[in-house]
Amino acid sequence: MKGNDKIAFTAEAIALMRDYLGHDKFSNYFVGSQILKNFKMLRFFIPNSYIDNMFRKRIKLSNEIDNLIKSYKPEQIVELACGYSTRGLLMTQKNHNLSYIETDFSLVIKRKKKILRDIENKEKIKLSKNHHLVEIDAINSDLYKNLRTLLDNKKRTLVIAETLNSYLTPEEFDFSIKNIINLLRRMKQGAYLSHETKKMLSGFIGRMLLFYRNRIAKTKGYSHFSDEADIKKSIIKKGFKSVQVRNSRITNNLLYLARIN
Ligand SMILES: C[S@@+](CC[C@H](N)C(=O)[O-])C[C@H]1O[C@@H](n2cnc3c(N)ncnc32)[C@H](O)[C@@H]1O
Repeated sequence: MKGNDKIAFTAEAIALMRDYLGHDKFSNYFVGSQILKNFKMLRFFIPNSYIDNMFRKRIKLSNEIDNLIKSYKPEQIVELACGYSTRGLLMTQKNHNLSYIETDFSLVIKRKKKILRDIENKEKIKLSKNHHLVEIDAINSDLYKNLRTLLDNKKRTLVIAETLNSYLTPEEFDFSIKNIINLLRRMKQGAYLSHETKKMLSGFIGRMLLFYRNRIAKTKGYSHFSDEADIKKSIIKKGFKSVQVRNSRITNNLLYLARIN
């Protein structure tokens, strides 16, 4: 199996949402001129209120994931499909002991590393030595083997996937879960945090935007669980010990934190 790196453009779209809403002062660095041009064009057709609502919902999802991360209190985080999320940067700037490994396709990681160096220079900050960026296709590599030298198996470890799974076919999702379990089983304590998106974009405009995204990224959306009970049953069947599910009605997502031990 091989991941589809055309999906990478969606990462920049989310950086734009973070920047638009003033989520943090770093997201702006990840917003390129092409995405700004596309956004300008989109605003011509879509009412501001729709854009506002869509962006707020999407960033609320990130904030809800942040809250679940805090509740788990990890010492080590592996983020799959990190895109241009500023979470790794913000968290490692706040806590220098936290080990944070961001992973995504090669083109995303190369660009992110370059931009992080710019941020370091322009914002006069020092990246934490525990903040790592690694090129990994989540469905085409052994996660543990690739990250072994960066991982400390005594640390409480959390693997995160934010807006990745909806791009994976059932077979790819299955591979990704086995890969994550294989990594977490080698850690003293570990968990996996992700979400099942029910429907984030509503109405005719929503369908148009999804059509546009799918055409550019040559992809489509997949769902992996039917409801909360299904998440609990299926995740346990896959090898986790317990699962906590949070129904986020505003963002229309079921967030789950699955513990391996
Ligand atoms: C919608 S963006 C989300 C980015 C980030 N998680 C965020 O919330 O800002 C989807 C991300 O998934 C990444 N992606 C998709 N398939 C992948 C795969 N097989 N392996 C690694 N990354 C993948 C894309 O490159 C992109 O960065």
